[in-house]
Amino acid sequence: MESAGIIVLPKIFDKRGNLTFIEGGRHIPFDIKRVYWIYDVPGGQVRGGHAFIEQQELIIALSGSFDVIVDDGLSKQTFTLNRSYQGLYIPAGIWRHMENFSTNSLALVLASTFYNENDYIRDYERYLSGRK
Ligand code: TYD
Repeated sequence: MESAGIIVLPKIFDKRGNLTFIEGGRHIPFDIKRVYWIYDVPGGQVRGGHAFIEQQELIIALSGSFDVIVDDGLSKQTFTLNRSYQGLYIPAGIWRHMENFSTNSLALVLASTFYNENDYIRDYERYLSGRK
């Protein structure tokens, strides 16, 4: 199974301020169908305990920092995101959650699918049994 990993995005250094961009299918391995963002997360909160059947995504800490814990059913890995020119690519079929949000952190998520609740696996036992 494909694993999650950091993608370093183009960064245009400029003394007026830096600029980063993403082109779907070029810098990330999917076309972007949906964009959402998570913000105003109260201290100690956890988001995103689930997997997707089909959806791939890229998560970027546009501001602040947070941890994304990915789990393929065999091993877990923690990615601390705190650079706006790096994204965490998560292929379909990986369980993940997000925690340790810093004050005023902003998580941008680029998704390969439109929102579809039927694409979610929200039950961890069901997720594990599907991996066998
Ligand atoms: P969810 O994906 O469970 O949030 P998280 O993974 O960050 O904990 O989504 C929370 C709620 O928002 C859920 O009721 C579905 C809704 N939602 C949409 O309507 N459209 C979307 O694009 C997303 C991501 C969520």
